[in-house]
Amino acid sequence: MSCMRPGGRWRAFDNGRGGEGNRAPSARTPPCGGRPAKHPVQRGLQKGEAGYPVRQLVNLPPAPAIAYATVRTCRRTTSDTVERKDSRWSLAADARTLREENARMTVRVDGKHIALFATPDGILACNNRCPHEGYPLAEGTLDNGCWLTCHWHNWKFNLKDGANLYGGDRLRVYPVEVRDGRIWVDTADEPPEEKRARVRRDLHAALEDNDYFRIARELGRLAAIDGDAALAVADAIEWSAERFEFGWTHAYAGAADWLALHDERQGQDAKLTCVLEAVGHIADDALRQPRYAFDSGSEPYDEDAFVAAVEDEDVARASRIARGGLHLGGFDALDRGLVRAVLSHYSGFGHSLIYVDKARSLCRRLGDA
Ligand code: FES
Repeated sequence: MSCMRPGGRWRAFDNGRGGEGNRAPSARTPPCGGRPAKHPVQRGLQKGEAGYPVRQLVNLPPAPAIAYATVRTCRRTTSDTVERKDSRWSLAADARTLREENARMTVRVDGKHIALFATPDGILACNNRCPHEGYPLAEGTLDNGCWLTCHWHNWKFNLKDGANLYGGDRLRVYPVEVRDGRIWVDTADEPPEEKRARVRRDLHAALEDNDYFRIARELGRLAAIDGDAALAVADAIEWSAERFEFGWTHAYAGAADWLALHDERQGQDAKLTCVLEAVGHIADDALRQPRYAFDSGSEPYDEDAFVAAVEDEDVARASRIARGGLHLGGFDALDRGLVRAVLSHYSGFGHSLIYVDKARSLCRRLGDA
């Protein structure tokens, strides 16, 4: 299954990860501390080869036999929470109750839905929502204590540190302490600035992989922190700027229009879609592009000298003068010189002129930074 992307590219919905359906994890999975058998992608299989996973997009197989209701959920009150510097210990459950509940249960503490597992390595806790598409992880399969397989698309997480066996989205795990037979979980969130920095790093990793669905998830996480993910477009432009040999592609031009649409639309879903299309197109165009060694110098801005450098096709000098203009007064300082340069020729069937117009829109919307 595929869809048309801006710029006319076709892409498959299947991102090549986690497509093994609801199959239970392999019996070859080694004890805790080892790693389960490799995913077919890691074994170097190509799409279409025997053994390569095919993601079921339609007629998804039924949910696993274990009913969600069989995992008991307990709710604790905020009076069971003790806050200390950098930690927030919340009483989650009695250890005996966990044993009675088949060594797994879910609890709601401090506004979080947490899955608890009694394992040979002690009690481990994680977010009950799979970071992929939110399936309840308390219903997953636990191999010898630490590798938890989500039953929806077979992603595997290390319950000790949250690592994702296939790379990509990590699972949030919580520190656990058992005191006097009672299970306490540290539910402290990282400070917003640290969380934002981490999500931005994860977004960059998703851009590197051109993983459209992970980009969507990371943008959603940014929106949850900041209320809006529009500034991620500036982030993606900065990330990609050295990868476009000619400075621009339709992705940047499209980003200006997606941001205009974003500002018109109401509702977080619609806004997020606009940002996703802008950022996703940038990642698509930057895929496998090397970093070009653009001249990083700067010269005092002179409009005539800039237009002459463009006319001479002296890219290095034009870049240096343009940078001087940006330092002087942002895009506004450059605007007239750029328009003069592009109107001198009907270059690229008018693309140059369109790109100047879109650059103006982007700089006004995102700032010149
Ligand atoms: S692997 Fe897809 S929801 Fe968990």
